[in-house]
Amino acid sequence: GLPGPEAKAKDRPRRQIAELRSQRWYGDPGLRAFGHRSRTFQMGYTRADFMGKPVVAIVNTWSDINPCHSHFKQRVEEVKRGIWQAGGFPVELPAMSLSEPFVKPTTMLYRNFLAMETEELLRSHPMDGVVLLGGCDKTTPALLMGAISMNLPAIFVPAGPMLRGNWAGKVLGSGSDTWKYWAEKRAGNLSDQAWQEIEEGIARSPGHCMTMGTASTMTAIVETLGMTLPGASSIPAPDSGHARMASESGRRIVDMILEDLKPSDILTPAAFDNGITADIALSGSTNAIIHLVAMAGRVGIDLPLERFDEIAKRTPVLADVRPSGRFLMEDFYYAGGLRGLLSRITSHLDLTALTANGCTLGENLEGAEVYNDEVIRPRDNPLTESSGLAVLKGNLAPNGAVIKPPAAEPHLHVHTGKARVFRNYDDMAARIDDPALDIDETCVIVLQNAGPLGAPGMPEWGQLPIPQKILAKGVRDMVRISDARMSGTSYGACVLHVSPESYLGGPLALVQDGDLITLDIPGRRLDLHVDDAELARRKAAWVQPKPHYERGYGAMFAKHITSADKGCDFDFLHAGAPTPEPEIH
Ligand code: FES
Ligand code: MG
Repeated sequence: GLPGPEAKAKDRPRRQIAELRSQRWYGDPGLRAFGHRSRTFQMGYTRADFMGKPVVAIVNTWSDINPCHSHFKQRVEEVKRGIWQAGGFPVELPAMSLSEPFVKPTTMLYRNFLAMETEELLRSHPMDGVVLLGGCDKTTPALLMGAISMNLPAIFVPAGPMLRGNWAGKVLGSGSDTWKYWAEKRAGNLSDQAWQEIEEGIARSPGHCMTMGTASTMTAIVETLGMTLPGASSIPAPDSGHARMASESGRRIVDMILEDLKPSDILTPAAFDNGITADIALSGSTNAIIHLVAMAGRVGIDLPLERFDEIAKRTPVLADVRPSGRFLMEDFYYAGGLRGLLSRITSHLDLTALTANGCTLGENLEGAEVYNDEVIRPRDNPLTESSGLAVLKGNLAPNGAVIKPPAAEPHLHVHTGKARVFRNYDDMAARIDDPALDIDETCVIVLQNAGPLGAPGMPEWGQLPIPQKILAKGVRDMVRISDARMSGTSYGACVLHVSPESYLGGPLALVQDGDLITLDIPGRRLDLHVDDAELARRKAAWVQPKPHYERGYGAMFAKHITSADKGCDFDFLHAGAPTPEPEIH
């Protein structure tokens, strides 16, 4: 789990300082640059601090209300130390923090906002390259999407997982244990005192969620893509190795700028296949699909959902980490971390892929070991041999839907049942536990209007609740279908990301109580047994719900958001004609 080999000095040609874009601001001896230089002196820097040096942005998603990034105030100083040492001029640029627990209605509404902010911060300032500080769920894809579009040399410093939670001698995991102990509390098995102690013990250090939620999934994917130093994503946030990784990333970005090593050099189709392979081997969050499609779209690479299914079919799940497995990210680090895991699936990876330190993925995996076969399983004892993820199609999801088969009870993998439909979240919340609701465990629970436009922002509602009267029978899983996402720490036979979404009049909007629906995971099918003529009749009578926003960011979001299978990026942010560099007058 320790960071891999130091960057090898490769024979990449090095650029002259005069060629760097920052020199358009600083390099002109005349009046044009006078203001930039005098205003830098105003901040107390001397000529030797910044003249003739690469200018390095540090986009910092620290905020007073993002617990996952609370150590970034200190880490940014360590990044700066590395940049100074290597001869660069560090400039911290604060950006929107996207704190998963606090930002409402959902951080997903603002992922593209942070991506735009990152891109425009870099474009509008005299920056030659960037260190990206993120980790809490959406911050990772957002920072990368912006940096990819700007395509300056970039390195990602992942926040790192928090330490294992602890209560009364028991290990607590983010998310998963919250649901578990809340159920115990509701059943009368936990005192108020115990519940308060759990609140105080479940998140006891800086760092992102330490289960295999979206944060751990995305930071590991970004490392596999080659956008971090090797080993970076597995280091727990409070570990002193994390601080050393931060300063090393600062040192490295200065050389990346001089070598002109850009995201477009690293993020090839092979790198994305490597990223998807890591995602599957980790049994990562389903959210990663949307983020990877969006990130690839920024480079101009088309990632159809089928690619995820193909790679899932050939990739074993080896990380025994919650919620799919037993352990937490701290254990994963001690067991050898991501480098250990990747060293067990080298035959599934393109080892020639270039990474941020100038070495190939294969070079970065040299010497990687696994120290605990329980946490990182050997190839002959995987959690699942294949299909940690499945992409479904059918007349209920013509553009696709996704499910995590290992998270669903096996008897539901092929299932036909009667639909019980909820028009939206409030409708579901109001009626799901009604004892008079006509539903049993063979039914299929359908939630409409929970997608990118319908909810809005495609929140993590996809683990639809099982009615209390069915829970009371001891039933713990049912087939559930929505156009929402699901938290990486959730579980169950939940069909997610149904596209096109119901708000746009997709077939999901036309489902009625009592319709028969078939989920067939081995056949990769999701079918509504209603004939086309009847569906056409229902479509003609269908009325689109009112828009959520008349003004502001929400209105822009609604106008430009693409569907889940296209990554939920804004249509105008896909790779396309280059955006011109700003004029400097
Ligand atoms: Fe930040 Fe889970 S709340 S990663
Ligand atoms: Mg989450």
